[in-house]
Amino acid sequence: MNDLMEIIKGRKSVRTYNGEPLSETHRNLLEEYARGITDPFDIPVEFVFMDAKELGLSSPVLSGETLYVAGKVEKKPYADVAFGYAFEKLVLYAWSLGIGTVWIGGTMKREDFEKAAGLKDGEMMPCVSPLGYPAAKRSLKETMMRKGVGADNRISPDRLFFNEKWDRPLTSADEMKDILEMVRRAPSAVNKQPWRIIYKDGAYHFYEKKDKGYVNDNTGDLQKIDVGIALCHFTMGLEDLGKKYEIQISDPGIEIPSDAEYIASVIVL
Ligand SMILES: Cc1cc2nc3c(=O)[nH]c(=O)nc-3n(C[C@H](O)[C@H](O)[C@H](O)COP(=O)(O)O)c2cc1C
Repeated sequence: MNDLMEIIKGRKSVRTYNGEPLSETHRNLLEEYARGITDPFDIPVEFVFMDAKELGLSSPVLSGETLYVAGKVEKKPYADVAFGYAFEKLVLYAWSLGIGTVWIGGTMKREDFEKAAGLKDGEMMPCVSPLGYPAAKRSLKETMMRKGVGADNRISPDRLFFNEKWDRPLTSADEMKDILEMVRRAPSAVNKQPWRIIYKDGAYHFYEKKDKGYVNDNTGDLQKIDVGIALCHFTMGLEDLGKKYEIQISDPGIEIPSDAEYIASVIVL
């Protein structure tokens, strides 16, 4: 992808579309890319492209959308993290082509989308996104919504990225600083940014800092999806710099607050 940092900084949720269908080329590129997406936990995410009009799909926060993509995944531990990782790959690729998206986990009639996506027992469809070309101007409801969740704000790095101990800020002057900035810019449910990273002995340990009300049977834990998104930005950043890495699930046992949970570690080789 051209200039990853530019893509990550430029991406914003798009809730107001211009009503035009995706070009055939764009649709084919997205479908082909989606088929090739893998995740570090080897939990496959299946992408289903759904015509909005044909299937009667809509969302109260959107206007002008013509196409949706849904992601389905088997319900099992780490399915939500894997989902976040895989779906965000598609979101960033779409934006690199000038195609807008917005993660939708709540503001939709879920039964309609699950039926249209052919959801089976044992699977979940945590989120969907429209895919289309942004309108020239945001709708008023979109502008209000962005204000409501402070969509343009992000938590400062010293409260997200720690050195050896929780809450001890990490000061990285090298290229890792840019990669952490890519993580910081990531989208999250209600813009809560629940990811935290502790750097220790060459490994970046990822944690979820939990808020109440983000877990249910239909979506899994939305904030684990957010951590999956953060992991996606981090590893794409490493790959962009040509750095090799390994992902392990191996809790280093660092002391953390009671509302935090260890998720995974990235060892930069
Ligand atoms: C897992 C997840 C679920 C989300 N669900 C919704 C939703 O149901 N409706 C909505 O309008 N936005 C939803 N969002 C979009 C966030 O509100 C948005 O990403 C955040 O406010 C930051 O804004 P930005 O994406 O423009 O940077 C969701 C985002 C994520 C990552």
